[in-house]
Amino acid sequence: MLHSFSIRVPNTIFGNGVVSEVGKTAKELGARKALLVTGAVIAKSETLNKVKKSLEEAGIAHAVFSEVEPNNPIENIVATAKAAQANGCNMIIGVGGGSTMDNAKAASVLADYKNIDKTDISQWLGTDKVPRRGLPKIMIPTTSGTGSEWTMPIVVMNEGRKAAMRSAYLVPDYAIVDPLLTLDCPPKVTADTGMDALTHAIEEYTGYRPNLWADMLAGEAIRLIGANLRAAYAKGAENVEARYNMSFASMIACNPMLSVGANLGHGMAHALQSVMHNLTHGESCSLMLCAIMSFNMIANLDKFGRIAMLMGENVEGLSAREKAEAGIEAIRQLSIDVGIPQRLRDIGMKKEDIKKAVDILFEYQDRLVEQNPRHCTRADATKIFESVW
Ligand SMILES: [Fe+2]
Repeated sequence: MLHSFSIRVPNTIFGNGVVSEVGKTAKELGARKALLVTGAVIAKSETLNKVKKSLEEAGIAHAVFSEVEPNNPIENIVATAKAAQANGCNMIIGVGGGSTMDNAKAASVLADYKNIDKTDISQWLGTDKVPRRGLPKIMIPTTSGTGSEWTMPIVVMNEGRKAAMRSAYLVPDYAIVDPLLTLDCPPKVTADTGMDALTHAIEEYTGYRPNLWADMLAGEAIRLIGANLRAAYAKGAENVEARYNMSFASMIACNPMLSVGANLGHGMAHALQSVMHNLTHGESCSLMLCAIMSFNMIANLDKFGRIAMLMGENVEGLSAREKAEAGIEAIRQLSIDVGIPQRLRDIGMKKEDIKKAVDILFEYQDRLVEQNPRHCTRADATKIFESVW
C-alpha cells in the first residue's frame, strides 16, 4: 500500500429524484443557456423533460442536440460543439450513457474555440493534451456503467479505432446522479453497462499501483455489482434499490483509474471492438474479463481471492489459488445470468481475426498493456484471445 494517489471528483448530487436540482446547479455555475446533449432515445423520454423543467424553473434557457452517435466518433463531437455555438449556449449538460457524456465533455472544450473547423481535436488524444477547461459541464447519467460522470478520461472513435483523451479539464463541474433515471433501462443495456462497471472495478482493485482509495471504491463497487446487477437486469423498473446501488457502484468504480490506470481488461476490450464493430463496449469488456483475470491472478492471489468474498462466495477452507478461481467463476456466472455471450465465435468473430486484435492491442493500446499487473507478450495475448474464442 505504498503508492501515492490523487483524488479528483466533481461536485456531486446523488439520490432518487435529484435530477430536479439541475436548474439550481446550472445557475450556480453561471449558465444563461445550456445545450442539452443527448441521443435519440433520451431526447423523446420523460428524463429530458425533467431536465428541461428544472432549467425553466431556474430561468435558464436551453437548446437540444440529440444526435449523439454510439462510440463517440470525433466528427460527432465537432457537431455538438457547433450546435452549442450556433445556439449561443454557455453551458453543456450531457444526459445519457457513456458515449453521450464523453461527447459532451469533449464538446464543452471545443465549443469554447472561435474557429472550430480549424481545431483538430485528434491532437488531444493521449494524456494532458486537452488545452483548456472550456464551458462549464454537468453530467447526468441514464445508465449504470461508464462512470464518465465521475472521471476525467473519455473514449472516442478516431479513424475506426478506440482512443482515449485524459485530462483534468474533462472532469465535469457537477455530476447529478439520479438512480430513478435508470429504471427503464432495458435488460440488455443494464447487463452490458453493469459488466463494464464491473470490469472497471476489477481492473482498479487488482491494478499494479494499488492504493487505499482504489481499494475502497473498487472493492465496494465489486460488492454492490455482485449483489445487485441480477435484480437490476431481471426487473429493473421494480427494483429501485438495486438501481440505486448500481448507480452508486458505477459512479465510483472507474474513478481510481486516475491513480491505478486501466489495464488489459479495457485494452483487449478496445482491441476486440476495433475488430468487431457491432459489439457494445460492455459486451467486449465482459467477453474478455474472466480470461484476463485467470491470466493476471498469479500477480496477487490474495487480492483475487478477496474478489470471491466481495462477490458473496463462501471461501472457507479454500487455498489462496482456489479462492482466486472462485472469484473468477463467480464473475463468469454473473455474466451468464445476465445473458452476455461467452465466446468470440458466438459473436461471429473468425479465428484469424485474433491476429488483427493482437496487432491493434500492441499498436494502439500499448499503454494499457504496460499497466497490466502481469507482463503480457504478444504470445500471451494471442493465447488469452484464443481461450475465449
Ligand atoms: Fe469501460
